[in-house]
Amino acid sequence: MSDYLSSRARRVKPFHVMDLLARAQQMQAQGREVLHLEVGEPDFATAQPIIDAGISALEKQYTHYTPATGLPELRQAVAEYYARKFAVTIDASRIIITPGASGALQLALCCLLDAGDEVLLSDPGYPCNRNIAELLGIKTRALPVSAEQNYQLSAGQIEAEWNERTRAAMVSTPSNPTGTRLEAQSMQALLVAVAHKQGHLIVDEIYQGLVYDADDGTALQYSSDGFVINSFSKYFGMTGWRLGWMVVPENYVSAVDRMAQNLFLAAPTPSQYAALAAFLPETEVILQLRRAEFQQRRDYLLPALQALGFEIARQPEGAFYIYANGSAITGDAFRWSCNLLEQTGVAVTPGVDFGDYQAGQHLRFAYTRPMAELQRAVQLIDQFIQHSKQA
Ligand SMILES: Cc1ncc(COP(=O)(O)O)c(C=O)c1O
Repeated sequence: MSDYLSSRARRVKPFHVMDLLARAQQMQAQGREVLHLEVGEPDFATAQPIIDAGISALEKQYTHYTPATGLPELRQAVAEYYARKFAVTIDASRIIITPGASGALQLALCCLLDAGDEVLLSDPGYPCNRNIAELLGIKTRALPVSAEQNYQLSAGQIEAEWNERTRAAMVSTPSNPTGTRLEAQSMQALLVAVAHKQGHLIVDEIYQGLVYDADDGTALQYSSDGFVINSFSKYFGMTGWRLGWMVVPENYVSAVDRMAQNLFLAAPTPSQYAALAAFLPETEVILQLRRAEFQQRRDYLLPALQALGFEIARQPEGAFYIYANGSAITGDAFRWSCNLLEQTGVAVTPGVDFGDYQAGQHLRFAYTRPMAELQRAVQLIDQFIQHSKQA
């Protein structure tokens, strides 16, 4: 049997964290305690009103395709959500329901870039966005973003780095892995810089709603030109339901519709009916309590990691990640994370998963586990560091 693999399949990079996760699961199967600070999904179950709506959809046999752009009621509910939360008016026709933010990203990239075109992104940044682009034959250029620029692309970088092949830039706010946000002014400057180049800004707002000590926002407050991606995965706690959405400029709706028809046919129907309950006031109460719990966890973990010797140059204002510089503790964060897992059962994600820039010095800690587990993890990391110093 041939084992031929396309060059794109050969090129796509693995997630080191998946190897780490596999090892962690193996250790658990052998009866060892493993504390998962590597996982990028909420530990909470989907809120009950959403589950009830999902069950009801199945009982009513809502199991056929919806239109490729999504259930009209859900598109309308998303439009009302923007109006309620951010006082922006968006016509529901501009909202496309997708299989997760991942599906939205594929649509945006397919719509805006040809093979050989280039997209600018941040390093560090969420690796799948970059890998999806590369799978499509799009050139990716990840620009180093420092703590001083809040780990976000700047308008100056767009001005300086844009070339004749560049068609788009992609940002994520709040960011994975850093939890930092693009403030209103920086977002506006980026939109202007990209428009000046006659390009497009793709804005990944998947962690919207999980913002702690700043005002939450959306790029849609400043422009209707961007491709704004969102998801039911994180704030709404629906990772496994595979549902997201994208707001596109009016003149792109029909192209995105055609693309969606061919790529996915439609997002999962029972999930779309379930998601209608994501906007109910009783669900909002549950989600806000969870947001408060994430904030408490962050407020515990951040100083606890600093006390262990990690440098956290920027206060993460959103998502559920802390991006920490461990160079005072180790010269090789990747190897350190492997040893930490083997010796203590604490799993964290090494910086190499998010790019090249200072990757060997950084680690991402996800506070997606209950407080007691975070406290136990900090204790074990402390012991591990003390032990390594003596060795
Ligand atoms: C920044 C970012 N974008 C997109 C995704 C994809 O999310 P989903 O496809 O579950 O909506 C993730 C998942 O972790 C993410 O962190």
